[in-house]
Amino acid sequence: MEVESNKQNKITNNHRLAIFASGTGSNAAKIIDYFKNNTHIVIALIVSNKKEAGVLKIAEQNNIPTLIIEKENFFKGNAYVNDLEKHTITFIVLAGFLWKVPQQLINSFPNKIINIHPALLPKYGGKGMYGHFVHQAVIQNKEKQSGITIHFVNEKYDEGKHIFQATCNVNENDTPEILAKKIQLLEHKHFPEQIEKILANTL
Ligand code: GAR
Repeated sequence: MEVESNKQNKITNNHRLAIFASGTGSNAAKIIDYFKNNTHIVIALIVSNKKEAGVLKIAEQNNIPTLIIEKENFFKGNAYVNDLEKHTITFIVLAGFLWKVPQQLINSFPNKIINIHPALLPKYGGKGMYGHFVHQAVIQNKEKQSGITIHFVNEKYDEGKHIFQATCNVNENDTPEILAKKIQLLEHKHFPEQIEKILANTL
């Protein structure tokens, strides 16, 4: 059931985002910064499954509420839908979140969950394909290009509809660390802008 404040958000076209992140949170930091003076798009909650995740410090510095989630509740409970409703969340951004998203959460936010992946999907996606492992595989396979994919989230890892891709060259001497830096630059440049575009098309 839709809570009253969510109805109000739709009427006024306001967006309240939850960012799910478990890593250092460099993308979350860029997104927070990009929207900090935006009155229609508010980063309302940072969600993490790791108590020690760097992203929680970033949330604290920006006075953004946080929610630490546990596996059992996420997959067998109601996927924290009640907590997200309490914060009147209208849209979810995965920025370095590695758990599969349960069906219940997808049903509660239809076409309102997006993810960023550090490769050109459909290649180099799926379970276990994250961060360093992606870049290592790309280099091992002597790919000439890699990049980023922003996509909607469905019940299968990294298989939702693509929204945006950007590419970079992979040079012969690139290490996974060098490639990671190139990919990070692409992510920081494009992710906040793409979120803004997607929200402009989402009521
Ligand atoms: C990003 O590179 C993101 O693409 C990746 O985790 C990193 C998080 O970095 N996500 C995945 O690999 C998802 N399969 P950050 O914590 O610095 O934003």
